Amino acid sequence: MLRKSCCIYSTGILSILILILGISLVLSNVFPHFLQALVKKEVTLKNGTEAFDAWENPPAPIYMQFYFFNLTNPLEVLDGNRPAVVEIGPYTYREYRPMEEINFLDNGTKVSAVNTKTYIFQPNMSRGPETDLIRTVNIPAMTVMDQFKDNTIIGNLISAYMRSSGEGLFTTRTVGELLWGYEDGLLKALKLFKPALDDVFGLFYKLIGLVDNRRVQHDQWHQWSLFSSCYHQNESLYMFSSDMCRSLYAEYEEDVTVKGIAGYRFSPLSKVFANATVNPDNAGFCVPAGNCLGSGVLNVSVCKQGAPILMSSPHFYQADEKFVQDVFGMRPKKEWHQTAIDLNPLTGIVLQAAKRLQVNVFVQKVSPFSQTGNVSPTVFPVVWLNESVVIDDASVLKLKTVMLKQAVVENIPFMLIGLGILIGLLYMFLMCRQKIPESTTAEREPLLSS
Ligand SMILES: *[C@@H]1O[C@H](CO)[C@@H](O)[C@H](O)[C@H]1NC(C)=O
Ligand SMILES: *[C@@H]1O[C@H](CO)[C@@H](O)[C@H](O)[C@H]1NC(C)=O
Ligand SMILES: *[C@@H]1O[C@H](CO)[C@@H](O)[C@H](O)[C@H]1NC(C)=O
Ligand SMILES: *[C@@H]1O[C@H](CO)[C@@H](O)[C@H](O)[C@H]1NC(C)=O
Ligand SMILES: *[C@@H]1O[C@H](CO)[C@@H](O)[C@H](O)[C@H]1NC(C)=O
Ligand SMILES: *[C@@H]1O[C@H](CO)[C@@H](O)[C@H](O)[C@H]1NC(C)=O
Repeated sequence: MLRKSCCIYSTGILSILILILGISLVLSNVFPHFLQALVKKEVTLKNGTEAFDAWENPPAPIYMQFYFFNLTNPLEVLDGNRPAVVEIGPYTYREYRPMEEINFLDNGTKVSAVNTKTYIFQPNMSRGPETDLIRTVNIPAMTVMDQFKDNTIIGNLISAYMRSSGEGLFTTRTVGELLWGYEDGLLKALKLFKPALDDVFGLFYKLIGLVDNRRVQHDQWHQWSLFSSCYHQNESLYMFSSDMCRSLYAEYEEDVTVKGIAGYRFSPLSKVFANATVNPDNAGFCVPAGNCLGSGVLNVSVCKQGAPILMSSPHFYQADEKFVQDVFGMRPKKEWHQTAIDLNPLTGIVLQAAKRLQVNVFVQKVSPFSQTGNVSPTVFPVVWLNESVVIDDASVLKLKTVMLKQAVVENIPFMLIGLGILIGLLYMFLMCRQKIPESTTAEREPLLSS
């Protein structure tokens, strides 16, 4: 009897101890802190960690897709009419971008590397071969004409050369040539006078330099600070895009689920491309000063060696309506043309990202050149690209394990409280049971003895 009640009282004490432990763990917030430290350790860029391997050689396939605009009415455009274009694509490339020449600096708090991108054509993910023909603006010619405008003597010479070689404002080239470069006749002729000039032109060739093999430097907390802490701070995310000669701010948009993993979607504000009236930060893109183009297009001519290149969202999504109206065939749509990045909030890992940009050329009548005819000033779309990545299945599995662990660890204090309550109930039950048999046996005993 004595041993039994001792057992029961220990149950009560145990229940109270477990309850106190559970409640104090909840109040002290130890577990979330512990968890954050754990995650931080896992995503640190240190030789040997998984995060480092992923950074050095991203496991998920990155695709670059191009959609060209094929011009259907060149003669009418030269007469001052609105261009009509047909979107042709995608032409898909797999992007490989291993980090090379990795160096740890400042006692390992910084990493420096050279990021060399390589593109391999994917025929079965493309609408046709790289030899498909596209008719678009003759960008080298437009650039040269732009640079010699109002210079009657040289302008007339160049114009005469262009007439003799049959070059005009528009040209028909293959997809491969437009992207990766071709020897341009006009540039080659000019090279005779200016030997430093490069006579190869391509959207991805160094003249325009959509892609550059850039030396990157990250601090050790790169993944961590780039994503998680920035979204904690005023819910915005910082991205850098060399294509647009500038950085972008993206803001939280909505909750999403990618391959069963919860994420937050961030997208650049419409403000990014807004005109200087709406976003004074963009005043630097009103070149020459005060010459603003309107919302949705950025003049990046300065970073493209003087070529009259303007960047925008595909199909002038979020741009002034006038750009959409000026070209027949523009159909801006959020789901197809928005840039977005989805992050897992716990780890800051990228679940899915799509960077979408359009390259445009500013075409206009240039005075000594008959080649420009009566063309109206137009922001002419050439190509748009979708650079995208979706988390690979192996990483999904890893991430799910981490999240399961997190769920378990986070709930330990609550499980303890639950356990405490259960043991408490058991204690009460045992106490009651112990008392009832005592009284019944007391009543029965006389009956039995009689
Ligand atoms: C990382 O560690 C491995 C083996 O420990 C070594 O071979 C490699 O050179 C290291 N890499 C860097 C960038 O230090
Ligand atoms: C690197 O660490 C060593 C020893 O821990 C220290 O003496 C040195 O000042 C550190 N250098 C830098 C750049 O932090
Ligand atoms: C683009 O237009 C040109 C000229 O009309 C045509 O020859 C070419 O086949 C078109 N390209 C594609 C891929 O349809
Ligand atoms: C773009 O900027 C350049 C100077 O960098 C300027 O000469 C040109 O006129 C601008 N283009 C447009 C369309 O405003
Ligand atoms: C800037 O954009 C706003 C809204 O699109 C428009 O009302 C305004 O006229 C634009 N200003 C200039 C200078 O283009
Ligand atoms: C861009 O890439 C993403 C991810 O691969 C894909 O889901 C999407 O369909 C692509 N968008 C377009 C318009 O091709």
